[in-house]
Amino acid sequence: MAKRTVATLLDMKKEGRRISQLTCYDYSTARLMKEADVDTILVGDSLGMTMQGYDTTLPVTMDEMIVYGRSVVRGATEQFVIMDMPFMSYQVSVAQAVENAGRLIKETGANAVKLEGGAAVTGQIKAIVDSGIPVCAHIGMTPQSVNVFGGFKVQGKGEANAERVLKDAFAVQEAGAFMVVLECVPPKLAALITKKLDIITIGIGAGSECDGQVLVWQDMAGITRGVSPKFARHFAEIGDAMINAFKSYDEEVKAGSFPAPEHTYAKSDCSDEFLAGLDKKYN
Ligand code: KIV
Repeated sequence: MAKRTVATLLDMKKEGRRISQLTCYDYSTARLMKEADVDTILVGDSLGMTMQGYDTTLPVTMDEMIVYGRSVVRGATEQFVIMDMPFMSYQVSVAQAVENAGRLIKETGANAVKLEGGAAVTGQIKAIVDSGIPVCAHIGMTPQSVNVFGGFKVQGKGEANAERVLKDAFAVQEAGAFMVVLECVPPKLAALITKKLDIITIGIGAGSECDGQVLVWQDMAGITRGVSPKFARHFAEIGDAMINAFKSYDEEVKAGSFPAPEHTYAKSDCSDEFLAGLDKKYN
């Protein structure tokens, strides 16, 4: 499959072909997503939670994003890779946003950046796009504003909120974004936004009528332990499979049944006479 681009993704929207997106944070997983032919990969700042064990995405730094992003880009050679801009890497000023978007692209080799916010960040979106970097916006439930929302909650409930989310969608399109993530937006509102916009909508907890869908890969593969969001369907139980593998390894190491002869380099081993000589020499 050829490398996905902004143009090929926009063509998919025009032709009514849905776009798949998964988060990813490392080379090995990116290779598997390439083999699976996933369209786009988001190096999400959700890595703060999935890879680093924080309760929110807020502590993630630019330098950390770059380390994870570079690894993904090396594995996902045919996917369109989007780098999340971490908390406080773009909110301070338009100049800060352009500089950090530039670093993310230059130092990882990714194809676009994503930032959270609607009308409030259109200055940043416009300036980043003007500097030659495609932008994916992110509206609805924006996890970097968890302290404003008082938790990870559905956004756009009620008529006034619904209209605000729709206005945010128009604002980011007007500013030049080519894609927008709609997170935890009621499904009929997400469908209306998708119909109204020329740019691509990617839903997460926003129903099936968006142009594409994104999930955090550990959620959809059944790796995340504890409470998982309602929308995070498990497409496999890889977490259980990994626990079983770790348990079997632990048991076999302790029982001495691993490694078996077929897992050793016995053919190139030293002769019994030579080893007996060493045994005697170092007595
Ligand atoms: O950081 C992330 O993974 C995200 C997705 C959940 C959309 O922003």
